[in-house]
Amino acid sequence: MNFSAFSLLPYLSKNRRLELLFFLALSILSSFLEIGSLGSLYPFLQAVLNPKKIIESLPIGFSGLSRMHENNIILGMGIIFLVIVVFSTVVRIYTIWVQQKLTANIAADLSISSFDNLLKRPYIWHITHNSSEVITRLTEDVNQVRTVILSGLNIILSSLIVLSLGLTLVLISPHITLFATFILGSSYIIIYRLTRGTFYREGKERIESHQRSIKTLQESLGGIRDILLDDSQSVFLNDYSQSVNISRQAVARINFKAQIPRYLIEGITILLISGLVFILVLQGKNISNIIPVLGSFTLGAYKILQPLQNVFVALASIKSNSSSIERLLPYLEGTQHRENLDSLISTKSEDLILEKNIELRDVWFRYQSAGDWVIKDLNLRIPIGSRVGFVGPTGSGKSTIVDLIMGLLKPSKGGLILDGYNASEDIDLMKAWRHYIAHVPQYIYLSDASFAENIAFGVPMQEIDLLRVKESAQKAQVSNFIEDQALGYFETIGERGIGLSGGQRQRIGIARALYKGARVLLLDEATSALDNKTEREFISTLLSGNDNLTIIMIAHRLSTVEKCDLIYEFSFGKLVDNGTYNSLLENSHTFRSLAKTN
Ligand SMILES: Nc1ncnc2c1ncn2[C@@H]1O[C@H](COP(=O)(O)OP(=O)(O)O)[C@@H](O)[C@H]1O
Ligand SMILES: [Mg+2]
Repeated sequence: MNFSAFSLLPYLSKNRRLELLFFLALSILSSFLEIGSLGSLYPFLQAVLNPKKIIESLPIGFSGLSRMHENNIILGMGIIFLVIVVFSTVVRIYTIWVQQKLTANIAADLSISSFDNLLKRPYIWHITHNSSEVITRLTEDVNQVRTVILSGLNIILSSLIVLSLGLTLVLISPHITLFATFILGSSYIIIYRLTRGTFYREGKERIESHQRSIKTLQESLGGIRDILLDDSQSVFLNDYSQSVNISRQAVARINFKAQIPRYLIEGITILLISGLVFILVLQGKNISNIIPVLGSFTLGAYKILQPLQNVFVALASIKSNSSSIERLLPYLEGTQHRENLDSLISTKSEDLILEKNIELRDVWFRYQSAGDWVIKDLNLRIPIGSRVGFVGPTGSGKSTIVDLIMGLLKPSKGGLILDGYNASEDIDLMKAWRHYIAHVPQYIYLSDASFAENIAFGVPMQEIDLLRVKESAQKAQVSNFIEDQALGYFETIGERGIGLSGGQRQRIGIARALYKGARVLLLDEATSALDNKTEREFISTLLSGNDNLTIIMIAHRLSTVEKCDLIYEFSFGKLVDNGTYNSLLENSHTFRSLAKTN
């Protein structure tokens, strides 16, 4: 038996634990009722076949019953049997409902807490994990864990029932019961031992290949333009069909092996019951003695086989799905990876007022702990209210520096200093800082929603301030385009904004930053999709119209940063020079050569 299902217990809420206890109580009640329904069949059959014997066997106090008519005794026994059977059926059905509800509740809780955890993971975690992995954890793996939970509950209910039915049969005939237990028990153990190793392996194989198929699916959809151009469908289709087949075949093998014992055991049971008749007849017992025993054992076998089979299927399914628990656990025990931002929800951007400088001080950074330094001994200072440009060749570390300034990446050494306070060491300050800034990347993420929802990103529709949306769109010079749409700000953008030009997307990105009311804008090649003339106009209105903003921009073309107060020039993760456009043109030969290639 695999106990890793118990490792989920600490993640269950108090309500779920209470529900679990309620289920346990119902299971115990169910199994007592099973004893009742099987145990009352024996006397009932005895009463039918030989009512006198029942009366003789009654205790003295009940001797009044002996005057009753035989048919009334049979009727009485029949009614008791019937009531117990009906009641136990109702309780069983209710128990199964409770079991399904409980499983569904736990599975939903697990999905929600792992998604909650996921959203709070630091940025570095997200850039080092493939999204197909994450999606598989939150869908397939949670599903498998649901199966494990359902199976665990099945084992509890079924083994209680098997145990109580077994005890009843022991009372009716200890010898036959022990013999049957031995035969059935050893058959199950043999089958389980033969198959259990493969269950785990195949369950794991199933999920891994499922994850590969999701990866192929995502990558091919993301690169569909190239696939169509290169006619490379077959490469992706091959990958996909391979992983899909492996995963489906594994499911077939798991299900097949879980079913085998059912048929084997059914065969063995029929043989046992025929053997029982044979032995009883050989012993010279008469038919009215045989039938109650035989009837009880037939009903007993019929009742026991289903839960016994359930236990086996449940064990198999725990084996084959337990690797999902191992994979899901790290997503649940997120508390140690998680940035402790929960307590800071109330901190608003209004709380933070910066007056002097944003600084990176003695900053070193690398993406992997053993990797190369991407940023080396960086010191830079951005005065509040200034317009600062970052220039340098591709790969020189500009985007990384912007992520460090935003606090999305934590310096490996050194710190982000805001007005003299170290925000790398101060979670409250960091939280307020993140509200204070907005980022406009080169590729704006657009959701399949209206323009209004994309500009007021992450704000529920009913809370969107439409006036502010319009203002932001105006400042970002995209309001005319949006107002020309049939539904204006309520027009839907379409998945990933596929119908928009690069320039339109970037303007929406800038409108989003303005809507947020950020005081510091970080533009990472945000205007690179605009043509030269439009970009120049755009930048100059952005710079002149928003005097109270601090603007940091990574430039694709040097002309973009011409009007900046200060330009930092980077190369290979190091700051090489800084100054105004003209002073750099004079002093930095690398800047001059950058200017020439533009
Ligand atoms: N997620 C990442 N994991 C590992 N290395 C990265 C990652 N992102 C960027 N790098 C490396 O960091 C260096 C700087 O990249 P980047 O900051 O994107 O430069 P730039 O924006 O100036 O083009 C490059 O050598 C790049 O290979
Ligand atoms: Mg970059």
